[in-house]
Amino acid sequence: MTSKPTDQTIAEPKPDSFKPGTALTGAISVPGDKSISHRALILSALAIGESEITGLLEGEDVLATAKALRAMGAQIDKSGDKWTVFGVGIGGLMEPETVIDLGNSGTSVRLLMGLVAAHDISVTFTGDASLSKRPMGRVIEPLSAMGADFTARISVDDKACLPLTVRGLCPAIPLEYRLPVASAQVKSAILLAGLNIPGVTRVIEPVPTRDHSETMLKGFGANVTVETDANDNRIISLVGETELSPQKIKVPGDPSSAAFPVVAALLVPGSDIVVENVGINPTRAGLFTILQQMGGDIRFENEQIVGGEPVADIHVKHSKLKGIAVPADIVPSMIDEFPILFIAAAMAEGTTITSGLSELRVKESDRLSRMAEGLNLLGADLIEKEDGLTINGRAGFLPGGTKASAIKTALDHRIAMSFAVAGLVTETGLTIDDMSPTETSFPGFASMLAALQGSAQ
Ligand code: S3P
Repeated sequence: MTSKPTDQTIAEPKPDSFKPGTALTGAISVPGDKSISHRALILSALAIGESEITGLLEGEDVLATAKALRAMGAQIDKSGDKWTVFGVGIGGLMEPETVIDLGNSGTSVRLLMGLVAAHDISVTFTGDASLSKRPMGRVIEPLSAMGADFTARISVDDKACLPLTVRGLCPAIPLEYRLPVASAQVKSAILLAGLNIPGVTRVIEPVPTRDHSETMLKGFGANVTVETDANDNRIISLVGETELSPQKIKVPGDPSSAAFPVVAALLVPGSDIVVENVGINPTRAGLFTILQQMGGDIRFENEQIVGGEPVADIHVKHSKLKGIAVPADIVPSMIDEFPILFIAAAMAEGTTITSGLSELRVKESDRLSRMAEGLNLLGADLIEKEDGLTINGRAGFLPGGTKASAIKTALDHRIAMSFAVAGLVTETGLTIDDMSPTETSFPGFASMLAALQGSAQ
């Protein structure tokens, strides 16, 4: 018997070097929002009829979601820059014939676990070395209470991890669940399960997280209400078994991707750039607020609402930054942006203090350790604590030197992109062991940086 090669082969590491060059100038756009892209595919796959998506992020993570949905019966096609999805209807997913490999994508696996939990099907999920280390118990716990059954690998530190098999239940049991961690993925997994459950599924968020699921579910016609109680908890209630109607979705540029050229322009003297059409949803835009408070010249221009999401062009000029104590309540709205904030902090004047960041230890890598390690190699002055970094900025000076040739990204796209930006301002430049993880969220990242520098010549 011959076996077909899979398209999820292990990528060769792609080392690359980044060094100081010219100022960044000109206008660019960044790829589509990753969170919105996953949800656009998933909700379209559940609607009855044909949805259209433009601006979809065509990165590995989102393509992994598309492949999984196809394996469960949705028809997903692409023509030019337009994606069309023929949905199967609520409750219409089929059991896939093979194991589903979600590569590096935590959002794919956690959201799809929710979907499967309320279908009468069984699905086995696997992923790459990074995803296989990430905790799945946070999703397994509520979905088990809804009636789904899980068999997961247990890691050496006793966590439920991939590979795992979920056997869904139909009809499953509606749940009221108070989120013990501020996680949009957990919230979304429960709501997606609730779509195929009779009665009211309710998620209580003591700390608000990104709200794309609620907004998009409403847009697709789901019966969702969002309230805030006297204690400032957000309460999201969804009445299940309401059919979704197909939509035309325009995905805005990803603020988490825009973060890299924005910080690069702040740090490289003489820079003046515009990042066009970026989502500035307040549940995502915390980094821009903090950078403005550090003295960054960042302005939102052409603000508008596109498909229920606020969008703007972000105009950024080189600025001298000052250290800051980052307040804990802004953390969820910039949870993916701390790696690049740490680079800005290392170049700022004064001390930046961050705390409440233990979630960073269970992202695509342990982002506190990876960033502390890399910044130490560049000669930054910092202390790593259990839940944050304290960085004494060196006011525009990161020496680098021989150790700067050993930056490790540990299969983490945001670590790779953060240090690439650091390379533009580190005296000696630096070398990163593997830039291939950037394909998960920002295809064309290195050429985007080069184009911004080229346009200054
Ligand atoms: C995401 C939620 C966040 C974020 C991730 C995308 C989402 O994860 O870090 O990149 O699309 O729901 P958590 O839910 O673990 O905070």
